[in-house]
Amino acid sequence: MIYHSALITGASSGIGAAFARALPRQTALLLTGRDRDRLNALAQELGLNGRAVRTVVADLATAEGRQAVIGAGELARVDLLINNAGIGRIGRVIDNMEVREAEMVQVNVAAPVEITRGLLPEMLRQARESGGRAGLINVASTAAFAPMPIFATYAASKAFLLNYTEALAEEMSSEPVDILALCPGATETRFFARAGVEKPAMTPIHTAERVAAEGLQHLGHTRVHVVGPTNYLASIAMRLLPRRFVTAAAETTLQRWK
Ligand SMILES: NC(=O)c1ccc[n+]([C@@H]2O[C@H](COP(=O)([O-])OP(=O)(O)OC[C@H]3O[C@@H](n4cnc5c(N)ncnc54)[C@H](OP(=O)(O)O)[C@@H]3O)[C@@H](O)[C@H]2O)c1
Repeated sequence: MIYHSALITGASSGIGAAFARALPRQTALLLTGRDRDRLNALAQELGLNGRAVRTVVADLATAEGRQAVIGAGELARVDLLINNAGIGRIGRVIDNMEVREAEMVQVNVAAPVEITRGLLPEMLRQARESGGRAGLINVASTAAFAPMPIFATYAASKAFLLNYTEALAEEMSSEPVDILALCPGATETRFFARAGVEKPAMTPIHTAERVAAEGLQHLGHTRVHVVGPTNYLASIAMRLLPRRFVTAAAETTLQRWK
């Protein structure tokens, strides 16, 4: 499926930048993030030979930033929306700064909800008019499948995004839009350093390129995709095992990551 115009949040690094690089050159790009220099460098890299690549510098932790992204998405007439921006912060809820806890909810929950609601009606209208399909990828996480002490707000924000995306996909099942919740496990990006976490030693670490490629491959074929067979098995186990056991096991694992 070739999209005309894609909006990627959190395109300035990691998985978002990998999505931008993975999309075919027929797709115009709207790249958002806070880091102007990184966004401009990526736009320059991908904007060769007349390809339309625009950037929007906006802080998704603020209502104004989210509105700016929605406004730019409307102008760009996007038919593929990738809600990828996200942040984590390791630590017990009561030990983390209030502002950091709130920021996780704004960026990981409020932003995808508001941007989806802002852009989806027009995406559907365009798809109906052209006889094509729109696409929506929400980047959740394997952290979505369990309560995670010491990563509580992050894991809960991803559980929200997973449930929201699956429910939305059901609501939209007769509409011309494909919707995917993409659930990567540990991925080689700046995420760990920013979250204050050591990179996990025991779990497989995938590349951002693999995560983005699998997201684009599975869009339109399934509603939830967990990246990698080990992560997939872990996600099944987290759903089947008793909740108290899973929560305690998650705490033990995260204590090792701290
Ligand atoms: N890496 C992993 O192990 C892993 C695993 C599972 C899920 N994920 C999810 O994958 C997604 C991408 O993360 P990543 O691994 O690629 O990490 P990353 O390299 O740290 O990228 C995060 C992106 O989010 C953007 N962002 C963060 N706060 C923002 C804000 N307030 N306003 C606007 N943009 C903001 C960053 O842009 P600026 O720096 O320009 O603000 C950056 O482009 C996230 O949703 C994350 O939760 C990651």
